[in-house]
Amino acid sequence: MQEKYIDETRQGEAYAIAEKPQNSRKLFLESYGCQMNFSDSEIVASILSEEGYNTTLNYEEADLILLNTCSIREKAEQTVRMRLSQFKRLKRSRPNVTVGVLGCMAERLKTKFLEEEHLVDLVVGPDAYRDLPNLLKETDGGRDAINVILSKEETYADISPVRLGGNGVTAFVTITRGCDNMCTFCVVPFTRGRERSRDPHSIIRECEELAVNGYKEVTLLGQNVDSYLWYGGGPKKDFDKASDMQKATAVRFAQLLDMVASAVPRMRIRFSTSNPHDMTADVFRMMAKHPNICRYVHLPVQSGSDRMLQKMNRQHTREEYLTLIKEAKDIVPDIAFSQDMIVGFCGETEEDHLQTLSLMRAVEYDYGYMFAYSERPGTPAHKKMEDDVPAEVKKRRLQEVIDLQGELSRKRMESYVGRVHEILIEGESKKNKNQWKGRNSQNAVAVFDKVEGQKVGDLVNVFVFDNTQGTLLGETV
Ligand code: SAH
Ligand code: F3S
Repeated sequence: MQEKYIDETRQGEAYAIAEKPQNSRKLFLESYGCQMNFSDSEIVASILSEEGYNTTLNYEEADLILLNTCSIREKAEQTVRMRLSQFKRLKRSRPNVTVGVLGCMAERLKTKFLEEEHLVDLVVGPDAYRDLPNLLKETDGGRDAINVILSKEETYADISPVRLGGNGVTAFVTITRGCDNMCTFCVVPFTRGRERSRDPHSIIRECEELAVNGYKEVTLLGQNVDSYLWYGGGPKKDFDKASDMQKATAVRFAQLLDMVASAVPRMRIRFSTSNPHDMTADVFRMMAKHPNICRYVHLPVQSGSDRMLQKMNRQHTREEYLTLIKEAKDIVPDIAFSQDMIVGFCGETEEDHLQTLSLMRAVEYDYGYMFAYSERPGTPAHKKMEDDVPAEVKKRRLQEVIDLQGELSRKRMESYVGRVHEILIEGESKKNKNQWKGRNSQNAVAVFDKVEGQKVGDLVNVFVFDNTQGTLLGETV
């Protein structure tokens, strides 16, 4: 298990699909970071397909190069900078190509990209994609263009995403944008703004469209899905000012799950990311009610030490987290969990670190995404705390949590052996063309020999006879 966030093989992924035959310009669009960025890129592609752009996989033939960027750790930004210097060289031979930066790095660095680095022509923050057509008129006229205004309302609810680079089976649907939580280490509240929820009707419409188009699984996306709140008003923080009627008819996350699961009963429903502070037992009860809601919750905890949780402003204790996990396992016995963990946060002692390891053992996570703390400019931790854990200590602690997660993952995978699982076929196994690859409800990857008549998108019963650390090995029954 490596340090990673979204599936590593997708980092820096570019996509190309034939969109409109009448479109003559070519867009090279590459995404980094979290699932939300990949989902946003589908909105961008949709907006630009109306502006005469089809996507291409070859940046050398592109008229417009866009990088949808991530600021979450310094390393993520370095990767993007390296990529940009490559495009800068390209611009020497093809001065007419427009290079733009989207997403969190655009929002964080704003005009710096244009002024200091001369790396790009266009800078667009996550809430300004509707302005792309206007901004491109500027760049077409030879001027730099920027829009990094954050919005309290924008949810792109009415834009039908162009499904990029996917398998035609699984898709993301955004339900909230922004985050109000202010974890002290995190740059997201600054790059993605205030939290707002999308109209449930537009969410359901999008899920129904996916079902009609043959999709079999939808992942509802948000920085913190559990705090979803639709009341017909604006951002969540203004809910207090809502009318009695608005309050009485407000939709929260558990209800949204109920609505979606009922609207598309033949589709699998997943959601990400959950936050322990905002998650309630209602959500687990809804999972128990609907078999099509997958038995899997990504529930980042960041640390197992109360002292660290408090310094991180996570708003819950170790005990409360463990109680929530227990409650979930009581209500949904076959539930699986994954974590995000940060090691080496400001002031983390060996004792704190041991608390993290013991919490991991107590929960027995199926997977984990583990990171060494990376100080981000402008965050509360950067302003008020000292990044005082030496790099080699962070590295060693990170290795310890990765090793432990490996052990726990193997144990969890072993517990799936000897049983039949319902697997959604997502595609061919990369290693063996005669095998399918798919996932069970708990999100564990399974590979198994193809049987005649099976196709991508089928839900099939697979008997699991063995496992590796991260994969189930099975055969169709
Ligand atoms: N709620 C968000 C979290 C986004 S950040 C979501 O949708 O998943 C994803 C993960 O990156 C966090 O859970 C945290 O573990 C990690 N992370 C965030 N800021 C970090 C930092 N400054 N250094 C290291 N890891 C960080
Ligand atoms: Fe970041 Fe915490 Fe929100 S990790 S995205 S501030 S829940």
